[in-house]
Amino acid sequence: MAEVNLRGVRKAYGAVEVLRGIDSDVEDGEFVALVGPSGCGKSTLLRMIAGLEDISQGEIRIDGRLVNNVPPKQRDVAMVFQNYALYPHMTVARNMGFSLKLAGKKQAEIDQRVAYAAGILDLAHLLDRYPRQLSGGQRQRVAMGRAIVRDPQVFLFDEPLSNLDAKLRVQMRAEIKALHQRLRTTTVYVTHDQVEAMTMADKIVVMRDGSVEQAGAPLDLYDRPQNMFVAGFIGSPSMNFIEGRIKDGGFSAACGIVAPANGPGVDTGRENVVLGIRPEHLLLDPSGVEATVTVIEQTGSETFLLLDVAGQRITYLGRDRIAIRPGETVRILPDPGRLHFFDGESGRRLDARADTSLPLPSPAPSAGRGGSPHKPQPGEEPAPRRKAGLGRVAAGMLFAVGIRSDGYRPELHYMRGSGPASARARAEAEAH
Ligand SMILES: Nc1ncnc2c1ncn2[C@@H]1O[C@H](COP(=O)(O)OP(=O)(O)OP(=O)(O)O)[C@@H](O)[C@H]1O
Ligand SMILES: [Mg+2]
Repeated sequence: MAEVNLRGVRKAYGAVEVLRGIDSDVEDGEFVALVGPSGCGKSTLLRMIAGLEDISQGEIRIDGRLVNNVPPKQRDVAMVFQNYALYPHMTVARNMGFSLKLAGKKQAEIDQRVAYAAGILDLAHLLDRYPRQLSGGQRQRVAMGRAIVRDPQVFLFDEPLSNLDAKLRVQMRAEIKALHQRLRTTTVYVTHDQVEAMTMADKIVVMRDGSVEQAGAPLDLYDRPQNMFVAGFIGSPSMNFIEGRIKDGGFSAACGIVAPANGPGVDTGRENVVLGIRPEHLLLDPSGVEATVTVIEQTGSETFLLLDVAGQRITYLGRDRIAIRPGETVRILPDPGRLHFFDGESGRRLDARADTSLPLPSPAPSAGRGGSPHKPQPGEEPAPRRKAGLGRVAAGMLFAVGIRSDGYRPELHYMRGSGPASARARAEAEAH
């Protein structure tokens, strides 16, 4: 095990600079995911750590040792590539032990280490097979076994799961994670699948165009992206970006979406602001702005809506099932505790976090049948928990919404337009 330190690492192919000064640390035993769009330099950086590419400028240290000029074999790292590159004419056992043989190890030691790795990866019954007799997932495990037998200080993975089908990816993801928990070997894992990065890594390094945009724990990146690029890259479906302005503690957009904007770092008056709100942080709320449903997708566990709010495309993701058809309307409200504000010009994050203790500004009035807006009465206390609103979500269906406006996910309850449940909903709404 070892730490890996990168300082001012640059790479140029002739006049083309593909890495523009990378500073990053991988702690001893840490699992770091390198993510970013295609061509941003992930593989190049990994290959430089492995010693397969020269370093144009900067320093790479492994376990404190400067390795800029150390050949790959002497760096004590093992790399697993996207195309497993197994030798087709060798059995699984020989594939796994080949690097040890090249290193001049005795056969008894090779057998012992191969058996150990095969045990970890559940390959013991496949040791006599050839790669062509294996499934994709089994081949992938052999490729990992080849790395494990070397007992390296650092594992380097370059998109090792991208050739596998969706189900196998999820399974292998869990296996690699379990392997890391067991061996605690320092790992750098390249992927452009942000779900893979979020679920596997201790730390994510987001790259763009040869530079690091942000590095941090997965949930830090999700909760506090430092710029619009990271905000849009982390999270699926992607964050909604809505252009507008901040005035008197409130954000407003031309499409009618409003939100409180009064946290530290958010000026009282500012033009050219972008509100970022994740699809899962939009609430269906009678006091929200009207949105026309363009597309609805139900997966059983989740409902995805593509919405049109006066020409602005918005995506919504919720856990409740909604009886609605394209062309009908809902009312949406950004969850005031989950807002992100960015400078429209630089794309940089503006706010620390919006202060949610203040009441919401009233949204722009708009006609439609998405429900009646919540109208705060003069002198009304900012209620931490609003009781219920009643609206019409789709033809023939009345619904009652119990909603928390204090920053937690809402609990939504839909009730049919007849029977006791509906009567209760009506009574609650009237009492409100
Ligand atoms: N030998 C080379 N000569 C010139 N340019 C190269 C060379 N190898 C890579 N590049 C360029 O360097 C950039 C980074 O490539 P790299 O393979 O590191 O990207 P990546 O982030 O791994 O992308 P992907 O997700 O598609 O694998 C790309 O623009 C690529 O075209
Ligand atoms: Mg690559």
